[in-house]
Amino acid sequence: MNQLRKVLIGVILLLAISACAQKKVESGYVFISGEEWRDTDGVHINAHGGGILHHEGIYYWFGEHKIEGQDGNRAQVGVHCYSSQDLYNWKDEGIALSVMPEGSDSDIEKGSIIERPKVIYNEKTKKFVMWFHLELKGVKYSSALSGIATSDRVTGPYTYLKSVRPNAGHWPLNYPDSLKIKPVNVEGAVFTGGSISSPTHELNLIKRDLDKGQMARDMTLFRDDDGKVYHIYSSEENSTLHIALLDEEYTNHTGEYIRIFADRFMEAPAMFKKDGKYYLIMSGCTGWAPNAARSAVADSIFGEWKELPNPCIGEGADTTFESQSTFVLQVAGTDKYIYLGDRWRPENPIEGTYVWLPIHFTDNGFTIEWKDRWSLDDPN
Ligand code: GAL
Repeated sequence: MNQLRKVLIGVILLLAISACAQKKVESGYVFISGEEWRDTDGVHINAHGGGILHHEGIYYWFGEHKIEGQDGNRAQVGVHCYSSQDLYNWKDEGIALSVMPEGSDSDIEKGSIIERPKVIYNEKTKKFVMWFHLELKGVKYSSALSGIATSDRVTGPYTYLKSVRPNAGHWPLNYPDSLKIKPVNVEGAVFTGGSISSPTHELNLIKRDLDKGQMARDMTLFRDDDGKVYHIYSSEENSTLHIALLDEEYTNHTGEYIRIFADRFMEAPAMFKKDGKYYLIMSGCTGWAPNAARSAVADSIFGEWKELPNPCIGEGADTTFESQSTFVLQVAGTDKYIYLGDRWRPENPIEGTYVWLPIHFTDNGFTIEWKDRWSLDDPN
């Protein structure tokens, strides 16, 4: 009898322990895309269009802080930062870059547009460098600027340095001489943000913007193994992507850049590298509405780039599972890569959610499949 009791108590204890373990996995150690994702204070994470920096064993997630209502699509607060050791649980580190007060006449005045912030660390200058897509207040998306801010501390506060149109005065490395002498031909051209009335080589947008610098909207940063950092942005009225090398401080362009996928209207670029190959994931150009992702591969960052098919497979693939790419994270010390995307909610931006899915490499490229819930410990 005593024996039976002991066995029973043992079984009950085991069940209780496994229930607890299960609960822990359910709540804190899985990625669940497209739903509310609470930080360690229980508040939905507010870091949209974000990117992640891994620094001294900690991940830092920087993204657009959104507020309620239509005005929430413009910068009302700034760039929000969160930290995590495990990628599941995120601690609110506050606002890393704050907008300037209304009427301050600053480029990053409240009501400007600050999108897709990305941060990298410069080992030489010991500064954290943030780049973001900046549109000055009141001019919608016409400024097409890149903003730069730096900080001595990863979580900020970041100090706004300047905004630029990239590569003023420089031709792309792969721009044909025939176009350099061809006149600009934009008279009567129509730009909608998602289309142009004639192909770029006819309009010669590079030449149009040569003196003041090229347009730069959706963007990302990529740090290569040799410490070189590249700014990748949608340019030429969103029609064409540019890959531009930054200087050693990571705060200026060098004038060395290439254009890729002319007239393909790629946005939301995210670059990553695996086994010596460079990959890009991007979206098409349909504003806040999701569309089918694009992907590309290259042996060298300055090309040739080869476009690959939509990497998403299965149900939802035609809308990237209702998301738009913002970053690809290599999990530190592993060869696991995570796709990070946004489910935008333009009518109430603060409700936007995040889609995080594992990337699976194939012989020719990579694929992404929907998972209701998953963890880094799942078998591949
Ligand atoms: C998207 C872009 C977003 C934002 C939005 C505005 O295409 O990726 O970052 O700019 O358009 O409509």
